[in-house]
Amino acid sequence: MAGAAQGHLSSGSHAPYPQWPYCEKRCSYCNFNKYIPRGVDEAALRRCLVTEAQTLLRLSGVRRWVLGAGSWELCRAAEQVAGILEGSAMSSSPFSFPRVESVFFGGGTPSLASPHTVAAVLEAVAQATHLPADSEVTLEANPTSASGSRLAAFGAAGVNRLSIGLQSLDDAELQLLGRTHSARDALQTLEEAQRLFPGRVSVDLMLGLPAQQVGPWLRQLQELLRCCDDHVSLYQLSLERGTTLFTQVQQGSLPAPDPELAAEMYQEGRAVLREAGFRQYEVSNFARNGALSTHNWTYWRCGQYLGVGPGAHGRFIPQGAGGHTREARIQTLEPDSWMKEVMLFGHGTRRRIPLSELELPCPLPTLWFLHLCPFLFSQHWQQFEPQLTLWDLFGASKEVKELQEQGLLLLDHRGLRCSWEGLAVLDSLLLSLLSRLQEAWQQRTPSSVPRG
Ligand SMILES: C[S@@+](CC[C@H](N)C(=O)[O-])C[C@H]1O[C@@H](n2cnc3c(N)ncnc32)[C@H](O)[C@@H]1O
Ligand code: SF4
Repeated sequence: MAGAAQGHLSSGSHAPYPQWPYCEKRCSYCNFNKYIPRGVDEAALRRCLVTEAQTLLRLSGVRRWVLGAGSWELCRAAEQVAGILEGSAMSSSPFSFPRVESVFFGGGTPSLASPHTVAAVLEAVAQATHLPADSEVTLEANPTSASGSRLAAFGAAGVNRLSIGLQSLDDAELQLLGRTHSARDALQTLEEAQRLFPGRVSVDLMLGLPAQQVGPWLRQLQELLRCCDDHVSLYQLSLERGTTLFTQVQQGSLPAPDPELAAEMYQEGRAVLREAGFRQYEVSNFARNGALSTHNWTYWRCGQYLGVGPGAHGRFIPQGAGGHTREARIQTLEPDSWMKEVMLFGHGTRRRIPLSELELPCPLPTLWFLHLCPFLFSQHWQQFEPQLTLWDLFGASKEVKELQEQGLLLLDHRGLRCSWEGLAVLDSLLLSLLSRLQEAWQQRTPSSVPRG
């Protein structure tokens, strides 16, 4: 039963997610898995990244289709015949070729890696499977390690999209965050990036910092909108235990971030972005001119995430090893230990957590649709689960009714979607919807499980 349901749900899209674990300096707010480099043997690290990418790609069942010239186009055409519309995110057909549509170099600070390392990992991916020329290849870049010439070298290595950690356009805030760049550096990097990767540059802007006020933050956003490209991510500061900022707030040397002000910044920021033509497609992500990130999208399509590198997280079905259950996989955190494991076993997976069947229906029908907010929910849902309508699922739910009355959720003959106001509190909406969905999923008879 599980195999059938999973075969149906899992998208053919594989998204390698290589991590570069080093940073120039620890930012005061960050609790990601990162290390300050001390005599890093980059050639050895590169070999390990390549080895682990090859192992995980093989385990995930992705492989190269050797069909000759034009084969990729043939595969795509065959998929369309099987019911997948080109450009549609609906990917529930059982006839879906495993393929890589995006690679995302994250970290840490991957712009500190040499372009040669990035090229080697991409080469490993391209050897293992078909990597179409239009695949999205993103690199997270910090302004101080992303001069124009370095960015150009990353472009030559195969990167075609940048995500710039700008964080703020206020020097005092950047200092508070422990960043190594100034507002001027950030704007200069942004300009260079857009020259080299027009239409494919994203920026991260933080909000809700200690003592930050709504007006000045909105002015930063406006300034950014005068020069940014088509993708913006807004991140509300999360005060993480173990960080310098957490200690400073705890000791009273900095005021605690004000959640009311942060909520106001977020709401006003969304409106400003909407006014500027951006469409919100996730809690933090905004895009215009169709510049949505394929990598972000893969998650909501229940695609296969292959976390490669120290501390990387992934989620995939190890089909290449005969697996049927989607797993969360966490790689060993510390780079030297991770490298030893990769050299011994071909990968440094520290933990494998089988994801229950109950988790499976969630990303595709609920999270995905809510994040993209289309109207065709009922129609797509019917393809996914013909035995159970959306009304069966949510129509009688008291919680859903309340959310509708509050204007956060809309349920009608066209489907289920969240309103503009609802999108702002998506996480809490999803909690309610997921618990209802899981309840209904458990009550299904096995005969109602779609066959894939
Ligand atoms: C892990 S960082 C990696 C990117 C790159 N190293 C940088 O700093 O720009 C990705 C993004 O996560 C966000 N981030 C990291 N820690 C955060 C925190 N505690 N609260 C909110 N956002 C955070 C930052 O905006 C950052 O750009
Ligand atoms: S550069 Fe990025 S990953 Fe590194 S410490 Fe700063 S926020 Fe974290």
